[in-house]
Amino acid sequence: MQASQTSPQQLVIRAPDDWHVHLRDGRMLSAVVNDTARQFRRAIVMPNLTPPVTTVAAAEAYRSRILAAVEPGLAFEPLMVCYLTDDADPEEIARGYEAGVFTACKLYPAHATTNSAHGVTEIRNIYLALERMQRIGMPLLLHGEVTDHSVDVFDREAVFIERIFSKIVVDFPALKTVFEHITTADAVAFVESGGPNLAATITPHHLRINRNAMFAGGVRPHFYCLPVAKRERHRLELRRAATSGSAKFFLGTDSAPHLTGAKESACGCAGIFNAPFAIESYAATFDEEGALDRLEGFASEHGPRFYGLPLNEDRIALDRRDIVVPPRIGTDLGDLVPFHADETLPWSLSAA
Ligand code: DOR
Ligand code: ZN
Repeated sequence: MQASQTSPQQLVIRAPDDWHVHLRDGRMLSAVVNDTARQFRRAIVMPNLTPPVTTVAAAEAYRSRILAAVEPGLAFEPLMVCYLTDDADPEEIARGYEAGVFTACKLYPAHATTNSAHGVTEIRNIYLALERMQRIGMPLLLHGEVTDHSVDVFDREAVFIERIFSKIVVDFPALKTVFEHITTADAVAFVESGGPNLAATITPHHLRINRNAMFAGGVRPHFYCLPVAKRERHRLELRRAATSGSAKFFLGTDSAPHLTGAKESACGCAGIFNAPFAIESYAATFDEEGALDRLEGFASEHGPRFYGLPLNEDRIALDRRDIVVPPRIGTDLGDLVPFHADETLPWSLSAA
């Protein structure tokens, strides 16, 4: 058979990075960080801890805790992010960026999601910080949802574009911005219509589930995250964008672990824990789209080029070999349910 010609049994790509992940802190950090460090050489680490990471000293201390929790032998570089509050200090932000501690700043609209109570209540409050970031070339990462409760939860991303993001790109035309974890065709169109300083991350889960997944036969809390998954037509547009080869779209898992008890609750937490099989999930999607040759760009090239960082020099191999995702992953704090629980994925990361 000539199967190996058209359907390779192994895919070797430049080592990937994760441009958006929640590594948490303390015992949860120890429980999850190596799932990320085994697959990715670098990761943009979200700062929504309690309290949030708002100072250079806090970011340095958090970076040390992350590195201390990484298994010996894994080369992993956490890239730290400053959480913007209403009184974000442009001096502190610039100092952290210039010292190589902060890679970017993150805008959480206040109360948009987990640990965002200290987020920004009015975009004008951070205009001085944005001006400074634009001047020094520091990227702004956006959780792009309005928090206005009169706006339907499924429309919050599209309304954020209209009310906020479209103003930011006009007022700061040279600011590098990453529209994080996009979920809509509106966001794809907005990013595609912008200049090269406007990019987006796309999660494994938004490429695979639509909003029906949360209600299939009953409430499915493990498919609940923010921004929430949208209609099928949006998912299809995200798959088109991710596999298009456009340098504006790159990998960001948004892996966000919460213990099973906190998910399976009367008021369950938002977040999907996809870190353990993230690259396998993306590989399955790119394979289904006939775009395995574009996985490397999305996973390993577009991100570092956008951030102005070197590409990783080493390679990873993915084998066409079924891998069964366990229903639960035990930690010393309790269980986590991984994305793809109980499913079989067709590509596995080969042991180095
Ligand atoms: O689903 C989410 N979970 N979305 C976010 O924006 C935050 C994250 C978390 O930290 O749990
Ligand atoms: Zn996130």
